[in-house]
Amino acid sequence: MSFNVFITRKIPEEGINLLKKFCQKVEVNPHDRPLTYDELMQESKGRDAMLTMLSDKMDARLIQEATNLKIIANYAVGYDNIDIKAASAKGVVVTNTPGVLTDSTADMAWALLFSVTRRIVEGDKLTRAGKFTGWAPMMLLGGDLVGKTLGIIGAGRIGTAMAMRSRGWCMKVLYTTQISRNTVLEEMLGAKRVDLETLLKESDFISLHAPLSEKTKHLIGVKELSLMKRTAYLINTGRGAVIDEEALVYALKNKQIAGAGLDVYEEEPKLKPGLAVLDNIVLAPHLGSATVETRTKMSLMSAENIIAVLKKQKPNNCVNPEVFT
Ligand code: DGY
Repeated sequence: MSFNVFITRKIPEEGINLLKKFCQKVEVNPHDRPLTYDELMQESKGRDAMLTMLSDKMDARLIQEATNLKIIANYAVGYDNIDIKAASAKGVVVTNTPGVLTDSTADMAWALLFSVTRRIVEGDKLTRAGKFTGWAPMMLLGGDLVGKTLGIIGAGRIGTAMAMRSRGWCMKVLYTTQISRNTVLEEMLGAKRVDLETLLKESDFISLHAPLSEKTKHLIGVKELSLMKRTAYLINTGRGAVIDEEALVYALKNKQIAGAGLDVYEEEPKLKPGLAVLDNIVLAPHLGSATVETRTKMSLMSAENIIAVLKKQKPNNCVNPEVFT
């Protein structure tokens, strides 16, 4: 059998080399940019497998036209860029890369939390601009972490890892989850499962980890932001559209909340007007899983998923198991 695979962006070579051992044709997008929708559609035709990025829109039309396609291996844990229903209807397996990016993404959430709370980016700008004229008692005062309340919205793998790291600061942990109780957080941290309103009202730091779906789009909007403490910070390393970004701009501008740290955006890579001029926000360019170790593991995991499907085996990380029934 001769297999034909396309990888939509350059990824660490470990995964590419593994694919080359099993597949006769492995091509990588030669450009240093995402493919346009039309290019993606063109490249999907005749391929047995597509290794896609979270920025590739794999919609029903594209999946329908990709007549040979057997698997879409998404190089991310989130897969809201793929029409799962359309893939399942056509018998196309969809896989993701869970687990391997849990720690790097939780670390990123903490990096944002520290940066915004201790005003690191503002301080960096000031220092580089030659405006640091000496220690000053009232310069760039931030907030303490010890003993404060951390609210986790979406206590899955990454939300749990984020919460576990709060032990160093003896924080009280509240969480919401759409699935079952998180006994690890409850037993190890004494965390309390609460409703969204309680979490918003009582937390000093709120970290978003819920996947994007019709239910979670704009989960945090005008009303939710108005429930937060004026001294609270909002962190998002999940998916941008979980926050109504326009409402966030308003809340930050009017000091309804103290600050925010974002790694993801509603219309990525575009930012809502007004966001980039605010001082009380730290903006990162979707770096959650961006460590050498994690991205290498993601490349191997995606390659293994593809090879399993091409061997007519069930891959480890299938997100649409209905395709096998
Ligand atoms: C993912 O993989 O879905 C995350 O957004 C990585 O940062």
